[in-house]
Amino acid sequence: MGTDLIKQKKLLNEIHSTVVNYLFDSSLNSKSTIQQISSQIDLKVGKGNNLDKIKALVNDYLSLSVKTNSPQFYNQLFSGISVTGYIGELISSITNNSLYTFEMSPVATLIENELMSKMSQIIGYKNGGGTFVSGGSNGNYLAMLAARQKIYPEALCNGMFGSNAIAAFVSVDAHYSMLKAANQIGIGTNNIIKVDVDEEGRMDVGLLKKSIGKSIKNGVKPFFVGATAGTTVRGSFDPIKELADVCKKYDIWFHIDGSWGGVALFSKKHKNLLNGSELSDSFIWCAHKVMAQPLVCSLALFKDSKILFELNDVEGTEYLFHDKDQYEQDLGRKSLQCGRRADALKLWLTWKYFGDRGFEQIIDHAFQMAVYAKEKILSKDYLKLTSDVNFLNVCFQIQPRGIEKEDIEKFTIDVRNELIKENKAMVNYAKVKGENCIRLVTVNHDLTAEYLDKFFLDLESIVKKIQY
Ligand SMILES: Cc1ncc(COP(=O)(O)O)c(C=O)c1O
Repeated sequence: MGTDLIKQKKLLNEIHSTVVNYLFDSSLNSKSTIQQISSQIDLKVGKGNNLDKIKALVNDYLSLSVKTNSPQFYNQLFSGISVTGYIGELISSITNNSLYTFEMSPVATLIENELMSKMSQIIGYKNGGGTFVSGGSNGNYLAMLAARQKIYPEALCNGMFGSNAIAAFVSVDAHYSMLKAANQIGIGTNNIIKVDVDEEGRMDVGLLKKSIGKSIKNGVKPFFVGATAGTTVRGSFDPIKELADVCKKYDIWFHIDGSWGGVALFSKKHKNLLNGSELSDSFIWCAHKVMAQPLVCSLALFKDSKILFELNDVEGTEYLFHDKDQYEQDLGRKSLQCGRRADALKLWLTWKYFGDRGFEQIIDHAFQMAVYAKEKILSKDYLKLTSDVNFLNVCFQIQPRGIEKEDIEKFTIDVRNELIKENKAMVNYAKVKGENCIRLVTVNHDLTAEYLDKFFLDLESIVKKIQY
């Protein structure tokens, strides 16, 4: 075990013991001023720190935070902490399974189903079901959306403004959440215009201009262009500067979905992929992806964040927001949720530890690993790279000699499934240019060339075993 790993293990033991002491200490801390906090904690991130400093920051954070587990904390609609709840949080964090597929999250899926069914029975729903949400606010939103779906199902595709009022533009490779957002905001999925991509998987700017022109001609107002910085399957970066120019010309909101690839901004070597990011109106980055933060850790940034206050300004908040002078500091005034977790803390501690330079090294290493995997693929005659490697996505098919063309996709998926069945590796598959490929993602910070060598050796032995 390297010295850093030994130190990390020691720190974890110490933090766990601090946590236990904190949980069983019933004293109250109800007030910390901005002055106290800023004199005790250097909030800025940039320079890396050692683990002793991280431990000190955790202690500072604990001593300055409102202590909601004290019985004297009567302030909110919660107080105290459930030890089993805390254990659940911890285990959810360390397993970090994500509830989107059963394959990825088998036990948690069954647990969630069980709770939904039990709770449905308690309510009195015979065949009820549901989903966990990010809070009561999000739940109310979902319920209202469901009610709209019931009385006006056409709205999902056609929207609420009539089928052809406003339109948003994204590439055909943009994330499916764009379609869901179109439904949620009421414009309808049909009013997301999907623009084709070039050979590299980047939005075709010429085609975008044509689509915008056509919409305007048909009396539809273009209001949003979403560039993807790091597409989900191929890891491609849409041409940001050129798209920004188009948006400026037509006065369209310009968004960058940097959920996956936004992190390239931390690397001097790779930040050119996002040249022009400052020209966007909004930007999303998920630190639970490349920065390995436990789910969920997503940042939504706006060039002019006043808009967030504007769009969340509703009646009925007086019980919560008392202090007009604290407008900027009461963050609930600009979030969709009411109650919200302190997701910033994990990222802040991580950034304090690694510093800007450490982040850069992590990103550069991940890129290097992707190039290493690409070279391995290019060196094997039975593997075919199906998309050039732009980021940490390495897409390839398995095409051993003698295999019929129509069997390649199935064979590729069979090999992938066998890798999982034999517990050798878990890797996903997806379509590139209409054909199924393996999508290997080099995102783990501990990934080395040796792990990748082993992956390709295991893959080769499975190819030999199941060749047909
Ligand atoms: C480009 C892109 N945007 C958005 C998302 C959605 O992110 P999340 O899973 O955090 O909701 C993903 C997920 O893979 C993605 O690749």
